Amino acid sequence: MAVLEQMTSEQAIALENKYGAHNYHPLPVVLRSGEGVFVWDVEGKKYYDFLSAYSAVNQGHCHPKIVNALNEQASTLTLTSRAFYNNVLGRYEEFITSFFGYDRVLPMNTGVEGGETAVKLARKWAYTVKGVPANQAKMIFVEGNFWGRTLGAISSSTDPSSTSGFGPFMPGYEIIPYNDLEALKEAVKDPNVAGFMVEPIQGEAGVNVPDEGYLTKAHAICKEANVLFIADEVQTGIARTGKLLCCDHENVKPDILILGKALSGGVFPVSAVLASDEIMLTIKPGEHGSTFGGNPLACQVAMAALEVVKEEKLAENAEVLGELFRSELAKFIETNDLVLKVRGKGLLNAILINDTEDSSTAWDICLALRDNGLLAKPTHGNIIRFAPPLVMTKDQLLDCVDIIKRTLTEFKK
Ligand SMILES: Cc1ncc(COP(=O)(O)O)c(C=O)c1O
Repeated sequence: MAVLEQMTSEQAIALENKYGAHNYHPLPVVLRSGEGVFVWDVEGKKYYDFLSAYSAVNQGHCHPKIVNALNEQASTLTLTSRAFYNNVLGRYEEFITSFFGYDRVLPMNTGVEGGETAVKLARKWAYTVKGVPANQAKMIFVEGNFWGRTLGAISSSTDPSSTSGFGPFMPGYEIIPYNDLEALKEAVKDPNVAGFMVEPIQGEAGVNVPDEGYLTKAHAICKEANVLFIADEVQTGIARTGKLLCCDHENVKPDILILGKALSGGVFPVSAVLASDEIMLTIKPGEHGSTFGGNPLACQVAMAALEVVKEEKLAENAEVLGELFRSELAKFIETNDLVLKVRGKGLLNAILINDTEDSSTAWDICLALRDNGLLAKPTHGNIIRFAPPLVMTKDQLLDCVDIIKRTLTEFKK
């Protein structure tokens, strides 16, 4: 620890470059601590965090209630595996199913494991309930989706940086355009379709918000065709878009709901898949699992993280501050030709930079934002996502809007 305390940013970056795999391209800033909406680098400079670890830190960095839950359980019992029962899992299962209104939960760790679980559940349901012939089940995904890096996930990806050099891919997948109900109607005509998996707003693709009514109509199309509607709310869920779930904006209840990231307040990986008895009980003992899934530490952390969301009214705050953020930036971009558009819902927003996807402008703007005390990251070449912790105050948000406006005004290519 003492060594870490003394390390400069250059030293930390050099170590990662030398000993780590080069599978990321981080913004050059080395963080040492965090509290609420702020993070500090190793030189002591303070920043607003406008990424929140891809919406995992919705409750703010090191939230005391979540950290206390972690610490208390950590010194009592951390892991039993599911070979045995533990005294926390059942309570958590009761808590989370009533929190989101489902019969049952299957606990996992990362978001991508949640996605894998959902696909397996949909296939199993298709064979055992819907009557699809063995090994013929089909899954429908949409262009631009992102649900992680496993082979199952990248097999549905349309992003060459996810797929190039990693084939062959999973059979039984069909990819249709996002926000296209006619394409969905056509796709579900195949009687072997098990499920349609979709992000209510596409996060990694650049905060793509579908037309109003898309989710309601897509859900109805699935119902009509006896196809499971699966919502990947790993990034949009847990208050990020101004409602507990993004699907709540359209009063849609997914047949299978996937949660991750902020389910632990960013403390460590906790994900969950929620569904009805009919779907969940198709998987029998020994057919799916995870050594760490449902561990007592994760259960306590997740309960505390969800309580914080309710107690601190984070969805309501995201809704109000999101409106303010978009209206302030919309006014600003009328006078600035660097930014084409601001879009989003709640506190999941993005600006579109007036430049090509392969330009470095968005990256350079993020470097300038960093120098001005605000951390954000481009998603694709010309889009910058803005997703601060939801515990932000109105004054802090206005301060951030000022930083963003000032940076964009002063920015020279
Ligand atoms: C919508 C969505 N689903 C799934 C995932 C995968 O989550 P994880 O990185 O925890 O596996 C992500 C990660 O960014 C995501 O944005």
